[in-house]
Amino acid sequence: MQRTKRRRVVIDCDPGIDDSLALMLALSMEEVEVAGITVVCGNGPVELGFSNAKKVLRQMGRLDVPVFRGAEHPLKREYVSALDTHGRDALGESFLPEVPGGEQPEGAVDFLEKELLKGGCSVIALGPLTNLALLAERSPQAFGCAEELVSMGGNFRSHGNCSPVAEYNYWADPDAAALVYEAASRLGKKIHMVGLDVTRRIVLTPDLLEYMKRLNSKTGEFVQAITKFYLDFHWEWEHIIGCVVNDPLAVAYFADRGMCSGLEAYVAIETGGIAMGQSVVDAAGFYRREANAVVLTETDPLRFFRMFFGRILKLEEKKLDLLEDLVRQ
Ligand code: RIB
Ligand code: CA
Repeated sequence: MQRTKRRRVVIDCDPGIDDSLALMLALSMEEVEVAGITVVCGNGPVELGFSNAKKVLRQMGRLDVPVFRGAEHPLKREYVSALDTHGRDALGESFLPEVPGGEQPEGAVDFLEKELLKGGCSVIALGPLTNLALLAERSPQAFGCAEELVSMGGNFRSHGNCSPVAEYNYWADPDAAALVYEAASRLGKKIHMVGLDVTRRIVLTPDLLEYMKRLNSKTGEFVQAITKFYLDFHWEWEHIIGCVVNDPLAVAYFADRGMCSGLEAYVAIETGGIAMGQSVVDAAGFYRREANAVVLTETDPLRFFRMFFGRILKLEEKKLDLLEDLVRQ
């Protein structure tokens, strides 16, 4: 069997419940080599993100992966967390024991610059784009060396989750998001925008959690511990049973391009006013600008959960057939 080439990636994130599920998926994939994790302020402050990333690495037996602290506040606007959704510890109030150590001599942007300049490295960004924006400003060459840039963020036809039109990652630091998309334009790169149009289709339900626990109690219990708060939040605020898990889809798409489909377009981010943080997708070419993004609009939840369960629970294909009945299409 021809082994697929391992693809090196830095995961820039704000763990974060769904970021943590995304890290678990990436760390379970033969074809993905996680060179390091860079943390940005977002769901929680950087310190919480640093701590939570290490908790996930411990769960996965991968404390060999280095974690780097990044931006402690957005480029310009005030920092607004999402602790109301992710809990006081930004990990679903699981309050897992701390992992000591893991200090690094350099920061997130230093690590990103060094790794990208080596070549053959991509970035999967799962939080606000502050670290990437600081990198693009300091070293356009490093930013240009990125093999691929995948960002969970934004929205096209789907409504926002922080305002009628804005998604949290781009709303939390709109100046950074705008700078990153403009840098992509300038450098002839395309950001793969895995936005709410597709991530809203990925709903982790109590049935799926129950199935996960029965198949692999250690992993299932951990996932339940960090998602319970999120499930309660979704019931309380949206009266839905189940929680949308945004970030893991960006990892799944990075590893399997058939996971999502969409269109190439020029995208700009609004940085102020009532639409602050909106990802403006010029699908019709009004602005006559070259595409700087691949905007994902369609996905297949069953294909995602087959990958998610298969990888993190280490299951062979035939054990996954029950998912057909459990996955919300
Ligand atoms: O809007 C959803 C995104 O914002 C996810 O990445 C979530 O973790 C938060 O960062
Ligand atoms: Ca995130």
